[in-house]
Amino acid sequence: MSPSSQGGHDGPLRVLVARAVFPDIIEPLRDVAEVDTTPDDAISTPETLRRRLADKHGAFITGSERIDAALLDACPQLRVVSTMTVGVDHIDLAACAERGVTVTHAPDVLTETTADFGFTLLLAAARQVGDAERYLRAGHWAKWSVDLFAGADVFGATLGIVGMGRIGQAIARRAALGFNMRVLYHNRRRLAPSIEEALHASYRDLPDLLRESRHVLLALPYSPAAYHLIGAAELAQMQPGATLVNVARGGVIDEAALAQALHSGHLGAAGLDVFEGEPAVNPVLLRAPRVVLTPHIASSSLPTRRAMAQLAVDNLLAVLQGRPPITPVSG
Ligand code: DGY
Repeated sequence: MSPSSQGGHDGPLRVLVARAVFPDIIEPLRDVAEVDTTPDDAISTPETLRRRLADKHGAFITGSERIDAALLDACPQLRVVSTMTVGVDHIDLAACAERGVTVTHAPDVLTETTADFGFTLLLAAARQVGDAERYLRAGHWAKWSVDLFAGADVFGATLGIVGMGRIGQAIARRAALGFNMRVLYHNRRRLAPSIEEALHASYRDLPDLLRESRHVLLALPYSPAAYHLIGAAELAQMQPGATLVNVARGGVIDEAALAQALHSGHLGAAGLDVFEGEPAVNPVLLRAPRVVLTPHIASSSLPTRRAMAQLAVDNLLAVLQGRPPITPVSG
């Protein structure tokens, strides 16, 4: 089928693939549209993105491309924005809805991989793997010592999960079934009793969760309401020596307050995969002790990144061809 004969559209359909994506997964888009790709994987400035999207009907984006009202106004033909992420905090959903632009995302396919990584960060932070590896590589290891990098136990400890969506629940299963942990959770909506029971998880309000948990893991979707949800006051409520892990979004934590809590010794450890203002990382975090820092890779196994890209392409194709999207963003 030619790019010009789809969905009752007069001229050829045009799609922007805003980042370098697995070429074999992108290929089917070429059957229905002219495809503007980004082989050098450069991140577009807002101005470049506006220029490149101006005549497009569909956009394949990642979390690095921001879609706002001003951009949409410059792209009158845009019908669908398909992000290969599950998070949609980089997209103004109201502005898309007002302009009739469908937004799709990529839930489910990354759940288990992201949960694996949340647990990886929890273990790595609690057991001080980052500092220990840097110590060894720097040639400082001269002798075995009884308390060398003596961290906290994870097995059997209490884990507090903030954000009990798909990823939070997948982490809860690992914690309860694999690590015999007592699982507490906080969520906008309390889960049904049957789900709580299946997950062996108990609901707490945030202050109680922070007070009762040895380890706290953040897996909530980002919204302005979540901005600095964990600040100095909340960190002070956490147990001395507690661990804080973030696989949500950087803006959830006041990073300066976190660095302070690590320096003071109140917080035992932290594991962060996301940062406010990433890819820039606040230098206070780079200087802080007992913190494992990773570059937003929680969903980054090759099969999962391929599945995310595939779902984004399938969503684009569905909307451009007049079919219902597979995973539209609801609400
Ligand atoms: C998501 O899908 O929202 C992740 O943060 C990107 O890996």
